[in-house]
Amino acid sequence: MVIELLEKALKESLGSYSLEVVNVVKSNRPDLCDYQFDGAFRLAKQYKKSPMEIAEEIIAALQNCPYFEKVEAVMPGFINMTLSATFINQILRDMKKFPKFNLPILEHPLTYIIDYGGPNIAKPLHVGHLRPAIVGESIKRIIAYVGHNIIGDVHFGDFGLQIGEVIYGMQEEKIGIEEVTLEDLNRLYPKISGLCKEDEKIKEKCANITKELQEGSLEYERYYQKIFDLSKKDIVRIYKYLDVDFDLWYGEMDSRTFIPLVEKILTEKSLAYISDGALVVDVTEEADAKEIPPLIFKTSIGSYIYGSTDMATIYQREKDFQPDYILYVADLRQSLHFKQVFRASLKAGITDAHLEHLGFGTINGTDGKPYKTRSGNAPKLDALFREIEELFVESKESNKNMSEEDKRKIVNSILKFADLQNNREKDYIFDGKKFSDVVGKTGPYVLYTYLRIKRILELEQYKESDLSNTIYNEYDRNLRLQLLDFHKAVLGAFRLRLPSVIASYIYDLCVSLNTFYQNNYISGLEEKEKKQDWLYVLDLADQILKELLKLLGIEIPSIM
Ligand code: ARG
Repeated sequence: MVIELLEKALKESLGSYSLEVVNVVKSNRPDLCDYQFDGAFRLAKQYKKSPMEIAEEIIAALQNCPYFEKVEAVMPGFINMTLSATFINQILRDMKKFPKFNLPILEHPLTYIIDYGGPNIAKPLHVGHLRPAIVGESIKRIIAYVGHNIIGDVHFGDFGLQIGEVIYGMQEEKIGIEEVTLEDLNRLYPKISGLCKEDEKIKEKCANITKELQEGSLEYERYYQKIFDLSKKDIVRIYKYLDVDFDLWYGEMDSRTFIPLVEKILTEKSLAYISDGALVVDVTEEADAKEIPPLIFKTSIGSYIYGSTDMATIYQREKDFQPDYILYVADLRQSLHFKQVFRASLKAGITDAHLEHLGFGTINGTDGKPYKTRSGNAPKLDALFREIEELFVESKESNKNMSEEDKRKIVNSILKFADLQNNREKDYIFDGKKFSDVVGKTGPYVLYTYLRIKRILELEQYKESDLSNTIYNEYDRNLRLQLLDFHKAVLGAFRLRLPSVIASYIYDLCVSLNTFYQNNYISGLEEKEKKQDWLYVLDLADQILKELLKLLGIEIPSIM
């Protein structure tokens, strides 16, 4: 990786000076140099000399380094580096030659569990469920690509009041277990949950059904199983459309058997106590600016809730997989919940994994309010998919011969690139028209770029070739330099759990590719070596683009 190599060279050039961290950064003045080093300022303080004097000494030791075309000290003490074509091309050759574009091989792969998606049984999926699925799928792929073992778990919400509500509704309307349909579920849930808000008695009934189900009532279990199957089938269908897949299709209910075990640990270790009739665990710590309320493990009516199943699930995951990390892709508004669960679990000693809540913000419409579809205010996902598809198909750029499968891939690219280009913690505005355009920071723009380059390579019947040491012009140089940043983008996205780092890199790479393409005429090129070199670089860029799109969960259509 380029930065590591540069840092190593700089370290060796320090002579008798010693500096704890040698860090090179990409220049923010690409017109002046490619990379910069500002260590001379820190050394100057330490050795009581002027930064410029030290910078001069360092660059003197670097004059014969083959990495640089030019390395100079500039006032008041920066070191500016311009890479040599030989060095750039050697890195590109290695990227093409080694697996994963020569991404460093991980010496100690760890085990990660990623809990994402989190759809709720008996409630229809809506726009709010897009983010955890899209962001989680991408983070999972990035972590796997870096070389870790990662297990994705959908963690269905199937333990809550909504199940009791739907069972209550079925009984009220005398809908038999055998005959109930998905439409019934979609209708009953909003209806009964509305009634519960108005009528305490109904709410109590539903809560009791839920409690009896949790305690193992065989009759309710039969209802639950049917509701679960119907609902899951529809959720799986939507995830399939989104190309989102899980290793484990577990739910809260699967942790049921571990609840008593966790409860026993909590009471034996005297971590849980009764407060207002509920069994709670204190989690606040001295350093907290504001007191954190206790986690409720069992409510005063004796039922278990969100925090209980999350702790029991941690217990289960520890037993099954001994993970090093458990990541939760869930709404930022659940931060307090996760803080309580994590602290209570670590206190109870039920896991020694690193527990991380990867929060996400809301998708808003152009009016700044939570997103609604054109067709009405219930933004069901199917309606959203159709709406986006129409926006793209109606646009003049779209190819009328696209298959259904290609359309699905394009809809996905629109939704995913719109989402993943934002830091996941930020809310963002989804503007269907803007994000389905082929111009701008959009899925279609990126896919077009990829397909255009692929087409050139096909037309030229490009096969493996060698790369010379020449770089021909500034557009060419920019593109090659851009490719060197691949590793930084992947590893940065991994470390920060931010697919947006990769999305930005993809966009920048596409801009460099398009500028290159617009300024360098390839097909009629007479100079053989130049043509070979350019095709070599384009081929590498296209392969990288394809791999990175895969990390965002974006599939490539055959035409568009
Ligand atoms: N089902 C939850 C919701 O709709 C999300 C689940 C997140 N994961 C977890 N282990 N709590 O908000």
